[in-house]
Formats: sequence, C-alpha cells, structure tokens
Amino acid sequence: MFVSGRRVKKWQFVQLFATCFLVSLMCFWGLEDNYIVSYMKSYSYRYLINSYDFVNDSLTLKRSLHGATSFQYLINHKEKCQAQDVLLLLFVKTAPENYGRRSAIRKTWGNEKYVRSQLNANIKTLFALGTPSDPLKREELQRDLDWENQMYNDLIQQDFVDSFYNLTIKLLLQFNWANTFCPHARFLMTADDDIFIHMPNLIEYLRDLEQTGVQDFWIGRVHRGAPPVRDKSSKYYVSYEMYQWPAYPDYTAGAAYVISNDVAAKVYTASQTLNSSLYIDDVFMGLCANKMGIVPQDHVFFSGEGKTPYHPCIYDKMMTSHGHVQDLQDLWEDATDPKVKTISKGFFRQIYCRLVKIALLCRVIYKDTYPCRAAFA
Ligand SMILES: *[C@@H]1O[C@H](CO)[C@@H](O)[C@H](O)[C@H]1NC(C)=O
Ligand SMILES: *[C@@H]1O[C@H](CO)[C@@H](O)[C@H](O)[C@H]1NC(C)=O
Ligand SMILES: *[C@@H]1O[C@H](CO)[C@@H](O)[C@H](O)[C@H]1NC(C)=O
Repeated sequence: MFVSGRRVKKWQFVQLFATCFLVSLMCFWGLEDNYIVSYMKSYSYRYLINSYDFVNDSLTLKRSLHGATSFQYLINHKEKCQAQDVLLLLFVKTAPENYGRRSAIRKTWGNEKYVRSQLNANIKTLFALGTPSDPLKREELQRDLDWENQMYNDLIQQDFVDSFYNLTIKLLLQFNWANTFCPHARFLMTADDDIFIHMPNLIEYLRDLEQTGVQDFWIGRVHRGAPPVRDKSSKYYVSYEMYQWPAYPDYTAGAAYVISNDVAAKVYTASQTLNSSLYIDDVFMGLCANKMGIVPQDHVFFSGEGKTPYHPCIYDKMMTSHGHVQDLQDLWEDATDPKVKTISKGFFRQIYCRLVKIALLCRVIYKDTYPCRAAFA
C-alpha cells in the first residue's frame, strides 16, 4: 500500500494528539472537583460518551408509583380546562407570599382575556404552589390565598411545604395536573413568577407549530453537559449519593420552557418510575425526558438566567426574559406596542435592527442574555 510521507505524519499527529488527550483526560478525572475541572469532565462526558442509560437504570425505582407521589390538592380547579381548543396550558411556579408578582402577571402576559381578544387563542394560566413555609405566618397567608383564589380562580395548591428544595414536587404537581385535568391542551409551558413572556410572539410561534402537528417538542434555553455542583455551600449542591455522574443529560432552564402534550404525557409516565429525590426541578425534568428519548431544542430568544436588553428591535423577536418584577408592567407595554412590529419592516430598518442587535448581544464581556447568534436569527 502506498502511503505518502505527509499522510504518515498526519496520522502520527492524530495518534499523538489522541493519546495526549486520553492521558490528560485520565489525569483530570481523578482530580478534585473545582469549577474548571468539573466543566471539563462534564463536557467530555457529554460529547464523548453521551450515554445516560445507567443513569436511567440506577434511578429507576423497583416499583412504579402510579400517582402515589402526588400530594393532596388543597386548592384545585378541575373544570378550568374544559374547553376543547386550549392551545397553551401555562403553569407559573410561584410561592404563597408572592401575591404582587401574581397580580402583575394577571395584568400582563398571563391574562387569558387579552390573549383571547387580541390574539384569538385560548390559554389557561394557573399558579402552582405549596403551603406557606413560615409556620408563624402559615394561617394568615393561607387565608389570603383562599381569598385570592376566590377572586381569580387560578391557584392550584398541594399539601407540601413550598420551598426551594421542594421544587421537584412542584414539577410533579404540574405534570400530574396537566395529565389528569388538561391532557388535550396542545402545549404546556412552565415558567417562574419573575419571568417576562412575550405572549403575542409566543402564541404566533405556537400556532404555526400546531399547524404542522408537531410532536416530541421541547424548547427553551438548553443547558448542554452541565455538571452537578459539588460545592457544599451552593444552593444547587448535589451529593454523589443523589447523582453520581459528571454531567446531567441536556435540559432546558426551568425559568421557562414549552413542551407539546405528547411530551407532557411521556414525562409524566417517566416521573412515576424515577427516584425524584433530586430537587433541582429542571434537571429532574431532563432525566425524565432522557428516559423517554426526548431531546430539548434551543431557542435563541428564550433567556436563561439573564434579562434581555431593552430595545424595540429585541422585542420584535423576544420570547422570554428572566428577572422582571418591578419593570414588568412597563416592559409589557413597550414590548407589545404595535409600533414594535413595524420597526424592522423595510430594508433600512432591517439593517438598523441587525446592527442594534449585534451591538447589544455580541459583547466580549459575557452577559447572560440572548446569545450573539440571536442577532443573526
Ligand atoms: C417538602 O415538603 C414536605 C411535605 O410537606 C415536607 O415534609 C418537607 O419538609 C419539605 N422540604 C423542604 C426542604 O422544605
Ligand atoms: C432515592 O435516592 C435517595 C438518594 O438520593 C435515597 O436516599 C432514597 O432512598 C431513594 N428512594 C427510593 C424510593 O429508592
Ligand atoms: C430506561 O430504563 C427502562 C427500564 O429500566 C427501559 O425500559 C428504557 O428503555 C430505558 N430508556 C432509555 C432511553 O434507555
């Protein structure tokens, strides 16, 4: 066989490179986990091995739970979803004391009447919560919740203590409710109560998808190859006992994501067979989806942690943005102003908007907002 000298060198180089890579891989695998090491581990796991079969196996319970995980409903609205043509069931994760946030959401993006009259779509907005965590204020807060619920008929409460470490229970509440009382809603969205959702853009997008009869649909800001946090002082600390592998399966940030109803059903089924002690709800959702062979898609205009820059050129495309409480009402008015839709119409305005987006999103210093790619989308 004829092999050119150059070819040999190239081949040797590849071999050398691969060996070095493997050796260094083995070296740092044994190292203490710090920030960089755990990311290197998780990325190599994600991109080289990318198999979570044994995660699935070892977290699978001996016996399926069949609803036994579900806490009792203290406030419920079984009839809420009776209409047949529900496009979107929107669950907002909230805490008992966050009345102000719920109020703002009811007036802005969560407003069912607005969506019906202005966007001609049927959505159902529900707030998912547990019981007040502070024992001293429990009775008073519960009374307030009952009153609030009589006014608005949009709370769903189960009998578990509402806390960060019970977020997976809240996730199970949402999937349980959706599958029991609203399996026909075409899409299910779950969102934090400090998020902004550009409803007109989202509804338009979902309507188009509905036309295509989309299935296995799961969209949001995707975390790929995220490592478990092993720093005990972190809020997100996860012990090896709870999750022993170096990377989580891909999942969407819990701040806001959308799934189609077939995914809601599959994830619900999986959630009944997996150990749900992992309290990071979006990661747990990722484990359930992975078990069912569903992969998330990234949408550049879904934000993860960060706020989007305020600008009409951004509003034209935006879907969600995180961390809005005080400014929610103003942002809603600005972002849904009909003028926004005309800003990028026409050749020169299009160029103007492209430049604005590049200036706002493609920064050298990392800002946790939409990726630079979004400027070209
Ligand atoms: C989660 O909820 C359960 C049921 O109410 C409660 O026993 C437990 O203490 C809660 N966990 C946390 C960390 O609040
Ligand atoms: C679930 O996993 C935890 C460890 O994170 C373990 O302590 C618990 O016993 C497991 N539960 C079941 C039902 O297997
Ligand atoms: C997960 O495990 C279950 C049984 O333990 C198996 O039926 C299922 O196919 C597995 N899923 C994947 C994606 O490997």
